[in-house]
Amino acid sequence: MVGGGEGAYIGGIHRFAARLDNHFDLVAGAFDVDAARGHAFAAKNFIAPDRSHGDYAAMVEGERGRDDRIDVVAICTPNHTHYPIAKAFLEAGIDVICEKPMTTTLEDAIALHELAQQTGRFLGVTYTYSGYPMVHEARAMVARGDIGKVRVVQVEYPLEWMATGIELQGNQQAAWRTDPQKNGRGGSIGDIGTHAYHLAGFVTGLKAEAIAADLATFVEGRALDDNAHVMIRYESGARGLLWSSQVAIGQSNGLRLRVFGETGSLVWHQEHPNELVFTKLFGAPETIKRGRDDLSEDARARTRTPPGHPEGYIEAFTNLYSGFAAIIRANAEGRAAGPMGEGVPASYDGLKGVAFVDAVVDSHEKHNGGWLAPRFA
Ligand code: NAI
Repeated sequence: MVGGGEGAYIGGIHRFAARLDNHFDLVAGAFDVDAARGHAFAAKNFIAPDRSHGDYAAMVEGERGRDDRIDVVAICTPNHTHYPIAKAFLEAGIDVICEKPMTTTLEDAIALHELAQQTGRFLGVTYTYSGYPMVHEARAMVARGDIGKVRVVQVEYPLEWMATGIELQGNQQAAWRTDPQKNGRGGSIGDIGTHAYHLAGFVTGLKAEAIAADLATFVEGRALDDNAHVMIRYESGARGLLWSSQVAIGQSNGLRLRVFGETGSLVWHQEHPNELVFTKLFGAPETIKRGRDDLSEDARARTRTPPGHPEGYIEAFTNLYSGFAAIIRANAEGRAAGPMGEGVPASYDGLKGVAFVDAVVDSHEKHNGGWLAPRFA
């Protein structure tokens, strides 16, 4: 692991996810931007001293020559470091699990995707929400035609935690997320809009043809957007609307997807992830529950406990990790990855996410979102 040290957020979730299905051992790391803190964290986590590395470059050098070298590295650092770290490990022939957004610039995202292809190494991207079984169920239902041709996609990812200038009050996570050099061009849209965009595309299979965006910064002095509205035209003719917000008071983690087709609709909400609401034209809404026997193979493959015993965020993240493991093993053995490898986000998904952020910021900055004033207001 690179990053994810003391006081970090997502590294701990990666460690749970890596261990739950027993596919991974954590054996080496450069856990912190500060080498001494990284070594202390490694010692606390029972990492052998010779495998606690001072930085990622030392880790590449230290690991590449070992007989028992790492198979894969998880990159859990702020966005601007993903590109050089992922590049160094791919070039050393080591598979990569990279946090989103994959890079901070489109140029780097293209280069990284191409490098993954050239080296033949696997580069997974942790679009967390595609790990949920009921998201897979929704995807299977759309593909099966249960709601007919998709007309409208509404996806929103509102959060509350940055509703004030906490980046100026010592909050580590907010500090780099509001710095364009570290976060990239898109604030809320890069941080959480990318999750919403991936989720909508993952479930519907739709490809965006064009977007128009309106970005806003509500917290005074903040350099990046903390609220974004994006209209999406899909190639199929479907229309989408995406909202990401870091200033939505009362919303803890309100990611919600609604898909409306010609004959039915689906609603999935991250805070109630074991349920999917399906409504047929003029019918009563039906709640489909995780763990039931009649769900799709992809949903059942990602379920551990019987229905009624809730599963959640950690299990969804684990499903991604187990998908990565399935692909890495299958690649090594020259065979197909099977159901756990199905839909697992990889470098092209990472590239699409960065391209989306780039288009959103361009739409807002260069084309003013295509705004017209009403003649009377
Ligand atoms: P954080 O600020 O909590 O942790 C970052 C960690 O990286 C710290 O331990 C820091 O010391 C370390 N670090 C920074 N530069 C480093 C370097 N050059 N070498 C080694 N370690 C370094 O950040 P957080 O919130 O955990 O986010 C990290 C990444 O995870 C970001 O890309 C973020 O977008 C992504 N993320 C993804 C989520 C998901 O649902 N998939 C959720 C939250 C974050």
